[in-house]
Amino acid sequence: MDINKYLDQQRQRVDQYLEQSLPNSLREPEKLYESMRYSLLAGGKRVRPILTIAAAQALGYDHDAMLPFAASLEFVHTYSLVHDDLPAMDDDDYRRGRLTNHKVYGDGMAILAGDALLTMAFELCSKDEGDHGLSASQQLQIVRELAFGSGHQGMVGGQVMDIQAENQEVELAHLQMIHSHKTGQLIRAAVRIGGMIGGASSTQLGCLTGYAEDIGLAFQIADDVLNMVGTREELGKDAGTDEKRGKQTYPSFFGVDGSKKLGEDCVERAITRLESFDHQADPLRHLASYIMQRKN
Ligand code: IPE
Ligand code: IPE
Ligand code: MG
Ligand code: MG
Repeated sequence: MDINKYLDQQRQRVDQYLEQSLPNSLREPEKLYESMRYSLLAGGKRVRPILTIAAAQALGYDHDAMLPFAASLEFVHTYSLVHDDLPAMDDDDYRRGRLTNHKVYGDGMAILAGDALLTMAFELCSKDEGDHGLSASQQLQIVRELAFGSGHQGMVGGQVMDIQAENQEVELAHLQMIHSHKTGQLIRAAVRIGGMIGGASSTQLGCLTGYAEDIGLAFQIADDVLNMVGTREELGKDAGTDEKRGKQTYPSFFGVDGSKKLGEDCVERAITRLESFDHQADPLRHLASYIMQRKN
């Protein structure tokens, strides 16, 4: 299959949904909507919603009724980026090819836009209109999955470990734990939610979870490598910032080539986890490879 074509198609599908899900900035409070739209519609890769879609497709489900669930992951992810870039955190000036949210709207509005994106994710996930075919208890399970992946045991927990590790010597096992939380848990939620939408059996969900944990680590290894070797033009955000902020990363342990190799090992493992799935899981298989090969 042509993974680039697939990614373009699914990205368009997600972007269309995101565009119409968010009120336009003519509504009150105007500045809030403007700030939310500024970051959400800035053209990210949409990897997490596409993973949700691909996981559902792996089980033969491909209705647009899953888009609110897929989009909810992008809402949480975008909020995490807006807060991650704040001066009190990574203090970054560029994101998705433009100035960071707080540089344009100020810290207060960026914090609030992040808050509103996060809460709206749960609004989308708990919608009861649309014919997604899920029971109320399945939908509740999805909401819980999103909360788990985003919160104290998930992304937020990882972000806490990440800032606490700045300018500290950390062991590799700890770095891996930071990565698997700050980035891995939301990716894990994305895949598992797709699995739940597709009606995965517990064995299938187990395989999808293993796949997601492997690609989640690979995703952050790739981010670390790109931070070291990429440019602002390629990445849409500043490069070299990890070293500047005293963050230990995979390349600081293993060098660029060693890290790429470890990331590739994760990808290979991830693909093996999908052995019991048929050709409908090909997008998931190709997505795993894309994660290490991407240039931004
Ligand atoms: C960047 O995420 C931050 C991490 C969690 C590594 P992405 O690389 O998915 O960024 P966008 O969404 O494409 O901007
Ligand atoms: C981002 O991690 C993880 C989030 C939860 C936002 P980084 O801080 O390493 O990602 P970039 O390099 O700013 O995108
Ligand atoms: Mg960070
Ligand atoms: Mg950052």
